[in-house]
Amino acid sequence: MQINVKVGDFKTEPADAIILGIFEDEPLVSVVGAADEATDGAISALIDTGDFKGEHKQTALLYTRDAITASRIALVGLGKNEDLDIEKVRQAAGKLVQELRDMGLKTVVIALAPETPPEIAQAAAEASRLALYQFNQHKTEGLDKVKALDAITFLVTDEATKSLVEEGVAIGDAIAKGTNLARDLSNQPPNHLTPTLLADKAVEVANEVGLKCEIFDLAQLQEKGFRTLIGVSQGSVEEPRFIILEHIPDGEGRDTVAFVGKGITFDSGGLSLKSGSGMMDMKHDMSGAAAVLGAMHVVGVLKPDLHVVGLIAASENMPSATAQRPGDVVETYGGKTIEILNTDAEGRLVLADALGYAAHYNPKAAVDLATLTGAVVTALGNLACGMMGTDDALMDKIRTAADKTHERVWELPLWDDYDELIKSDIADVKNIGDGTAGTIVGAAVLKKFAEGYPWVHLDIAGTAWDVKGSSYIPSKGGTGYGVRLLVQLARDWTS
Ligand code: BES
Ligand code: ZN
Ligand code: ZN
Repeated sequence: MQINVKVGDFKTEPADAIILGIFEDEPLVSVVGAADEATDGAISALIDTGDFKGEHKQTALLYTRDAITASRIALVGLGKNEDLDIEKVRQAAGKLVQELRDMGLKTVVIALAPETPPEIAQAAAEASRLALYQFNQHKTEGLDKVKALDAITFLVTDEATKSLVEEGVAIGDAIAKGTNLARDLSNQPPNHLTPTLLADKAVEVANEVGLKCEIFDLAQLQEKGFRTLIGVSQGSVEEPRFIILEHIPDGEGRDTVAFVGKGITFDSGGLSLKSGSGMMDMKHDMSGAAAVLGAMHVVGVLKPDLHVVGLIAASENMPSATAQRPGDVVETYGGKTIEILNTDAEGRLVLADALGYAAHYNPKAAVDLATLTGAVVTALGNLACGMMGTDDALMDKIRTAADKTHERVWELPLWDDYDELIKSDIADVKNIGDGTAGTIVGAAVLKKFAEGYPWVHLDIAGTAWDVKGSSYIPSKGGTGYGVRLLVQLARDWTS
């Protein structure tokens, strides 16, 4: 689907529908006033009868009957003008474009008022592409009935507005494409997305958007000492991969920020085997990696003035005669040892190596994203990820990015007292606690390996898939959670 920006008059613009946003309890002015006039008061009539009030996300359709070139006008309520925020724009746009798509329309035009702020256009473009996402790669039947919009055009009244809106739309479109890439990866069945295939995808992304990319295969991982990553993968016939993506800005001396993703392409639990229903969704256990790859795609397109490194530890977690055992002790990349008492707590193992490796970049910040614990779903449900870290200033930055993107975060404590729970009798640390504070214990394990730089861990197990209630990321499948948050953090970065 194309998203375009052009200067023109909505009255003569050919499209299946012209979209207009309407505020509640406001006189019909500007482009909406002109549309009301052109349709002989059809919009006023809708409002006067009480059939349409402009309440947030309310929609209505008008047939123009040759009053203008387009055959329909689609109205969407924006709520009260004084209450409008970017998230409301995303939700309104997302809901309406899905409705129009489901009606079978092909081309829609969003008629913007003069001087519409670029952030509004960005939000509408971003939410529209996110809302129209579908994952049909593995269907062979019924494809002829799949409905899809071909194009969304943002129509502006003058050249000055056009260049501003164009910039906003380009940013929104890039962010949505990166998020949809993360959703594609998260939704991919585990036989179609092994660690090797994830690495291949990373190379493809790097080539597409101009990132530096390096992949460590099994031999290189052995040589370099990524022993916990190898340990998790050793029960599988699939080899692990470590993926490094880098955006190197022009000029010297820029800060480095690292994004680190858990990339378990399937988590059976290993010898500490999950139940049948417990592993049903575990193809999504690489959603942290997907968010990092999606964010790096956007970073490659938008090229912020910042050194951004994406690190992904990719592995399967399978049971077999060669699988690691509960009781094994493994030395991590940085040299500390970890006693593995439950092979299903594998995310913290692969991340131990990845966080150890991140220290080489001497980053000003490292943010890891991981579907780490079921406990975070119990604590926060689907509405926010769990945030824990060692640096308050970095957590503040992430909260700001979360407010702007509506990818919400909620901080849980990471007091040193929790370290008591992960003391091992025979190694430096063990990989599980006593069953209490499951999400914090996961973070406490990671903290042992995220040394030497400001670090924040985001436990995205509750937000990475099947999240209900959003108008622009409908409930089934991967959400791409984290892409928009990471990109915002990178774009707003100040030392
Ligand atoms: N990938 C799972 C976490 C998970 C579970 C995410 C359910 C989403 C839904 C992780 O590897 C895991 O199995 N964690 C264990 C840790 C436990 C053994 C300490 C868990 O949460 O039960
Ligand atoms: Zn697990
Ligand atoms: Zn897992």
